[in-house]
Amino acid sequence: QKEGFRFFMEKEIYEQSRVLADTLLGRLRDESIYFEELDNNLFEGINEIKLCACGTSYHAALVASYLFERHSKIRVSVEIASEFRYREPFLTADTLFIVISQSGETADTLESLKMAKRSGLKTMVICNVDNSSMVRLADASILTRAGIEKGVASTKAFATQVCVLWMLSLFLGGARKTLATEEIKRQIHLLRALPSTVNVENVLHEQLRRLSKRYLHGHGFFFIGRDVFYPLALEGALKLKEISYLHAEGYPSGEMKHGPIALADPELFTIALLPQHMLYDKTKSNIEELSARDSTICSISPLDFDKADDHIRTHLHEDYMLEFFEMMVVLQLLSMEIAIRLGNDVDMPRNLAKSVTVE
Ligand code: M6R
Repeated sequence: QKEGFRFFMEKEIYEQSRVLADTLLGRLRDESIYFEELDNNLFEGINEIKLCACGTSYHAALVASYLFERHSKIRVSVEIASEFRYREPFLTADTLFIVISQSGETADTLESLKMAKRSGLKTMVICNVDNSSMVRLADASILTRAGIEKGVASTKAFATQVCVLWMLSLFLGGARKTLATEEIKRQIHLLRALPSTVNVENVLHEQLRRLSKRYLHGHGFFFIGRDVFYPLALEGALKLKEISYLHAEGYPSGEMKHGPIALADPELFTIALLPQHMLYDKTKSNIEELSARDSTICSISPLDFDKADDHIRTHLHEDYMLEFFEMMVVLQLLSMEIAIRLGNDVDMPRNLAKSVTVE
């Protein structure tokens, strides 16, 4: 039941506005965040948070690491589950172990969760499936309410994961008194704007369709960004490679000069995330360096940028997190349009399964 959409992935991108509204429902108070699932003493004695996940969910975890440290001044580390489970991590009882998973069944993430439990850590899962193995195992769970996601390439699940993690960072900021009430109120107001921020507009979709015609000839892609736009760049690159089979890499903008810039040439396309409210000047000068070395640049920004070959103009927003969500939709649509033009089945990309229950 694609309801007129060409692929489930497209339907799911368009559904993001509704599922984000569902994810927010009942969780926003005037001055605080409320999770009925959470017992307040889960955070007692906690001095560190360890986030653990795979793939897109790992990218959501990276976004959370910026938000948790910024809002709740707590030590945060992020683990790729397939690595974590086979090293000998040094774990201490004052750590809350949070796994993030759309399915709740990913083998490596599930094993990591079991390992954390065996080590006596308090555990939590952020998950989309309420009777999944991870939800049954963890001490606490928060559901993302994205609904069933059929496309192998995760879209609406990622959006709702980041939304929950943003809310959790404010919840913690309130509980630990590291965020002023006024600031929590301001961010709750931003969260309320999320469903309208991710609404797909025809004009934008049409522009991305046109761009995709040329971009499918790219020999390689860099996706670059700073701060939370760095994990978003990683996610943009993952989306493109998994459904279009084109080579794409995500990098922190400031890291290019440490090696990757050697690859710059006109056949290499750089998709540059240039938000107004996060390190604008720094990111701009990183993009200018790439442009000076003849990389073909596609900038995504609400502000003009004359050094780009193509420019996707996003809306002006009052905060970087709203810019994040709009740019997320742009990246999802761009990779989907490129993959469709290449004739690929974007719902069932080659070699991939929706849920990776074996290692
Ligand atoms: O169900 P999970 O969130 O645990 O799945 C993790 C990854 O397998 C998943 O995000 C994968 O990377 C997606 N295909 C990305 O679009």
